[in-house]
Amino acid sequence: MTQSEKESFMKVALEEARKGWGCTHPQPMIGAALVEAGQVVATSYIEQPGSTAPEVRLFERLGRKPKEGASLFLTLEPGPSSNRLESGVRAIIDSGVSYVVIGASDPMPEHANKGADALKEGGVKVERRILIEDCEDLNIISNFWVQNRIPIFAAKSATTLDGKIACRSGESKWITGEQARQNVMKWRRLFPSIAVGAGTLVEDDPRLTSRIEGEPEWCPMRFVFDGLLRTAMGQYLPSIYTDDFRDNTIVVTTDAAGTGYIRRLETEGVNVWVLPVENMKVPFSVFRKRCADVGINGVYFEGGSRLVSELLHMRELNYHFNYRAPILLGDDKAKSVYRGLRTEKLAQAIRLEKVRHEMFGDDQLMRGFVGYPARLDVDETVFSHG
Ligand SMILES: NC(=O)c1ccc[n+]([C@@H]2O[C@H](COP(=O)([O-])OP(=O)(O)OC[C@H]3O[C@@H](n4cnc5c(N)ncnc54)[C@H](OP(=O)(O)O)[C@@H]3O)[C@@H](O)[C@H]2O)c1
Repeated sequence: MTQSEKESFMKVALEEARKGWGCTHPQPMIGAALVEAGQVVATSYIEQPGSTAPEVRLFERLGRKPKEGASLFLTLEPGPSSNRLESGVRAIIDSGVSYVVIGASDPMPEHANKGADALKEGGVKVERRILIEDCEDLNIISNFWVQNRIPIFAAKSATTLDGKIACRSGESKWITGEQARQNVMKWRRLFPSIAVGAGTLVEDDPRLTSRIEGEPEWCPMRFVFDGLLRTAMGQYLPSIYTDDFRDNTIVVTTDAAGTGYIRRLETEGVNVWVLPVENMKVPFSVFRKRCADVGINGVYFEGGSRLVSELLHMRELNYHFNYRAPILLGDDKAKSVYRGLRTEKLAQAIRLEKVRHEMFGDDQLMRGFVGYPARLDVDETVFSHG
């Protein structure tokens, strides 16, 4: 089989895996494809946590033994982290398939290769790392969770060519086009939770749901960072405090917030997490631990500038999505996405790693893991509270 044939069959397995988009937490998405005589004859994927291993399901669906010379394509090695080391490996060996092509290894370094080695011991020829970047990218949330036991914090921004998220007037709807905004809906469907700062809630009153054509509106957990509960002070409450999904809204505040406002929100059916104040800010590390305790393995921060900048200053941001539109404001008073750092040298720059590029109409998405320099100098005056 040629390299390009292997890649095209792995793409089929990847497409299968993506059918589980947003439904498999905390398990990864996994896809499988069986190829006989150059044709895909059976596929399967993980539909929800606790689903049967995809290779087991694939053979069940096939309903017969694979033909001699059949190859099995798996986006992820059957390993302990995906609970397939025994069931998956056994099913493959019992099926008689003699050639298995694997994309990504088990994400736990101490588990990596265990599944591949067990297959080899069972007499199966194993080839690995086919479209490995795509296969690893499929599971950025669950991989991070398995490796760190804490949720991944990702931020999204939609910017102009000069990195602005709003005009000097505050107008920001819409910087990017419809296709880029639809892609954001997809990520909202994948991440188990979304977070915004109080400023964005007051300014934009967003719905923070995922609205994808042909699918019912989906509401992840929705966090609002609001140290003093100023979003609960007005005559009218923001819509995410009153809509049908309000029991999915959690306001993250500090013990400096007024108890009357906490009661007002709770009476509406909104949840409130009161965390201890640290430098007059909601402490992200405590928030992260609380998310882990309730099994939330990823938070998609949608701004605004202050919230994501402070995440960055505290080295708490792990991943960044930047949608960039081909428009330019050239206005120093227009809002920038990240602010408050003093960066004298390029060596101090924050650099994205494992970078991916995608196009949505004329807009470009650049995304990747946040790589921090040894030293970050924060200009404390930029966001000083009070
Ligand atoms: N283009 C885009 O991608 C995009 C996305 C989102 C928003 N926006 C725009 O951004 C603007 C809003 O941004 P913003 O910077 O004014 O406000 P923001 O970042 O949405 O909210 C900041 C507020 O969050 C509260 N907060 C609580 N804990 C915090 C913590 N640990 N760190 C930081 N903040 C914390 C603070 O309120 P307290 O001090 O009261 O606690 C702070 O003032 C709007 O114009 C919106 O349209 C653009």
